[in-house]
Amino acid sequence: MSERFIPYGRQTIDEDDIAAVVEVLKSDWLTTGPKIKEFEDAVCRYISCKQGIAVNSGTSALDVAVASLELPKGSEIITTPFTFVATSNAILYNNLLPVFADIKPDTFNINPDEIRKKITDKTRAIIYVDFAGQPCDIDAIRGIADEHDLYLIEDACHALGAEYKGKKVGSFANITVFSFHPVKPITTGEGGMAVTNNKCLANRMRMLRNHGIDLDPAKRKDYRYDMKTLGRNYRMTDFQAALGISQLRKLDRFIIRRTELVKGYNNAFESLSGITCPVFKPDRMSSNHLYTVLLNPSISRDEFFTKMRGLNIGVNVHYIPVYHHSYYRNAFDVSPADYPVTEDVFNRILTLPLHQGMTKEDVDYVIDSVKSILKKGHR
Ligand SMILES: Cc1ncc(COP(=O)(O)O)c(C=O)c1O
Repeated sequence: MSERFIPYGRQTIDEDDIAAVVEVLKSDWLTTGPKIKEFEDAVCRYISCKQGIAVNSGTSALDVAVASLELPKGSEIITTPFTFVATSNAILYNNLLPVFADIKPDTFNINPDEIRKKITDKTRAIIYVDFAGQPCDIDAIRGIADEHDLYLIEDACHALGAEYKGKKVGSFANITVFSFHPVKPITTGEGGMAVTNNKCLANRMRMLRNHGIDLDPAKRKDYRYDMKTLGRNYRMTDFQAALGISQLRKLDRFIIRRTELVKGYNNAFESLSGITCPVFKPDRMSSNHLYTVLLNPSISRDEFFTKMRGLNIGVNVHYIPVYHHSYYRNAFDVSPADYPVTEDVFNRILTLPLHQGMTKEDVDYVIDSVKSILKKGHR
């Protein structure tokens, strides 16, 4: 057994990342200073988008993104149930109603045909999530949005650096949201960013992250400022932004390494009968945030999970469908039977470790463990 626990995801922090943080800690600005804009500009340059709003988490980025749309109370936003709860919680924070649409059986991304079925006269927006780092069927979703005059928010918390038809995600939707949590493609500890090409939405999000106040302290001429809307304190610190700038320089390298690891897993698992490898669409490039496999229905995912954890391998399950959580069960009348694909995938999916810091020995150990559990349990 491996003496070391191999987590499903993990940050990579080098000495230069630490030096960048320390430099800011010794400076005058710990928050709301120059590193924030520098980080926002660096991300925008990387993804070719105009406006970046750095905040203290991906969840906060989703919240300000939804709030900036200024939708009437009771409006419906269609989203996937196969995501982290933060995606649909952001809808609820804003007194709006999440409406779930089932996912596709191959990519586990929201199914545009299912979105169509959920549109009502109250629908105002769609939030789609690029599951595991693979972009959704963006053209099809954009087509629906144009037809019904809906806003699009792309939850790209998994997908910084991913591409759709040769273009990086970040400017397909009205607003795109990234997370910099430690398991994500790059990290700032906690952190997130909303990006947009729309100046008006950007200005609203900037105000929303700072209590709804119109001017940052650095820009004020005297003591005066005005709180124009009910905002939040979602500010990112400058030392986090400095870490983000330093991490961003490594993102392409991280993705290349993750992609190599994915190829290694695929080669090892493709011929096994108990397992289905992830499906990658040829017109998009995944950031390979997560590596998930589907186990055959005859195999108990939970037993498999326990055996892998017993071998010190940090497998996980992404995701428990949002409507399974007791808060959602109590507050909404959602029937799992209405989401047959989400249910089937949830029952069979397993996330294997995937991060750029994994050694060849780690990967070989995970592969050998999967093979040996399949062999012993399912001859
Ligand atoms: C799809 C998705 N959306 C939103 C979030 C929220 O991001 P954060 O943890 O930075 O708040 C996450 C984080 O796990 C996520 O996976």
